Amino acid sequence: TVGKSTNILWHECPIGQTERQKLLNQKGCVVWITGLSGSGKSTLACAVARELHSRGHLSYVLDGDNVRHGLNKDLGFKADDRAENIRRIGEVAKLFADAGLICIASLISPYRSDRSACRDLVPSSSFIEVFLNVPLEVCEARDPKGLYKLARAGKIKGFTGIDDPYEPPSDCEIVIQCRVEDCPSPKSMAEQVVSYLEANGFLQ
Ligand code: PPS
Repeated sequence: TVGKSTNILWHECPIGQTERQKLLNQKGCVVWITGLSGSGKSTLACAVARELHSRGHLSYVLDGDNVRHGLNKDLGFKADDRAENIRRIGEVAKLFADAGLICIASLISPYRSDRSACRDLVPSSSFIEVFLNVPLEVCEARDPKGLYKLARAGKIKGFTGIDDPYEPPSDCEIVIQCRVEDCPSPKSMAEQVVSYLEANGFLQ
């Protein structure tokens, strides 16, 4: 989108990301969890936050469903609205990362172009895309909110995976694989993410 804000100048503060990161003993970054509805994104996000907290690291979860209760309550699920939902969450995640936090964004973010636009907002090494790859049949069998049932009955239109597309990442930092008969526990999935953060110097 072309900005309408004109005649604006960036103001630099003497206390910047470097100073804040020193205080927090960590590097700000965005952990972006994408996957189908019911794949367990929110559970994973909270498990990562818990694990980081127990190790003394500051994180914040931006959950699609939760942000839609406030900042994004004006947005629906058509492609344009999803794009704007994802863009706003990407911008907020950028601010949190700049604050020095490990920002965990968990939202379906079904379109590759929207996710890649968010990646472009931050230095590329500090955008960690996590694909929670859970087969549709598993998500549908879980149906924790009863939404798949409503979508199959035609009572929700444009539901991701049913009559709206989900484009899986082709090249992302972490893939968490779930099979029909065997899905890792949230704790072990979270450990996979935290190990990545540790190995890549985000946690000191
Ligand atoms: S998106 O696509 O990234 O903008 O979606 P997100 O902000 O993550 O919101 C997904 C949650 O909204 C509920 N919901 C729907 N999901 C997909 N398609 C349609 N049409 C839809 N309508 C409502 C649903 O509870 C999603 O929650 P999760 O946690 O993903 O199951």
